[in-house]
Amino acid sequence: MSATFAEAWTMASTVDGWLTEAQGRALFEAGRRLLPGTTAVEIGSHRGKSAVLIASGLPAGGRLVAVDPFDNPRWGGGPESLAAFEANIARAGLTDRIDLFRGISIEASSTWSGGPVGFCWVDGAHDLESTLADFDGWLPHIAEGGELYVHDAFSAIGTTKAVLRRFLWSSTVRYAGCERTLVKFTVGRTTFSQRVVSAAGLLRRLPFFTRMLAIKLARRRGHKRLEGWLMTRPNEPLI
Ligand SMILES: C[S@@+](CC[C@H](N)C(=O)[O-])C[C@H]1O[C@@H](n2cnc3c(N)ncnc32)[C@H](O)[C@@H]1O
Repeated sequence: MSATFAEAWTMASTVDGWLTEAQGRALFEAGRRLLPGTTAVEIGSHRGKSAVLIASGLPAGGRLVAVDPFDNPRWGGGPESLAAFEANIARAGLTDRIDLFRGISIEASSTWSGGPVGFCWVDGAHDLESTLADFDGWLPHIAEGGELYVHDAFSAIGTTKAVLRRFLWSSTVRYAGCERTLVKFTVGRTTFSQRVVSAAGLLRRLPFFTRMLAIKLARRRGHKRLEGWLMTRPNEPLI
């Protein structure tokens, strides 16, 4: 039986990672909405925080394929993360709902034989080239009406550039809202008016993006007062 969000969040909260509770809820709900006959895919698993949330929400028979090379500490994913990922998934009782692909996103997407993807969560490397490879590799596999969620959009420069480059005016992907830096898209043919609304939604995130960059810059330069002034509340997360 699927867990409630409260149960899933309690479990996920014990796993190191970078998600707000509202973002965790969005992932849990996306797992729960998985289209019948489709699979969920996660790019970037680290220690399993988001995997726990997505897999906990899956309907009976639903599966999550988690893709991570577990080899590059630069993005938070060294080899010790693999052991932690497996332990956390086992502790949550989710081992039988999650298949691990140990490799990078493009290796998994180019050899994919898992049928239509109903939900794709992109949280791997956040540089432009990798994020474009994530989008270009997985979009052809995502079912009509499926969902694509991207983390660190309008916070990480590479991810933001990739989102704007591919989706600002897209005939197949439209903006469907956000939870801070978690940006949601719906996949499926778009009408002209849907494209206009989608582009307006993405462009409305630019002031947030500017503020996130300014906070990061102030932090890097040690300007504590400026950093505090730019935040909407003390210790505002940058995710
Ligand atoms: C920000 S962490 C993911 C966090 C995770 N989603 C969570 O909720 O804790 C990024 C992860 O992406 C992985 N990664 C880096 N490049 C990747 C790629 N090209 N394909 C798949 N995963 C990648 C890293 O190994 C790292 O574990």
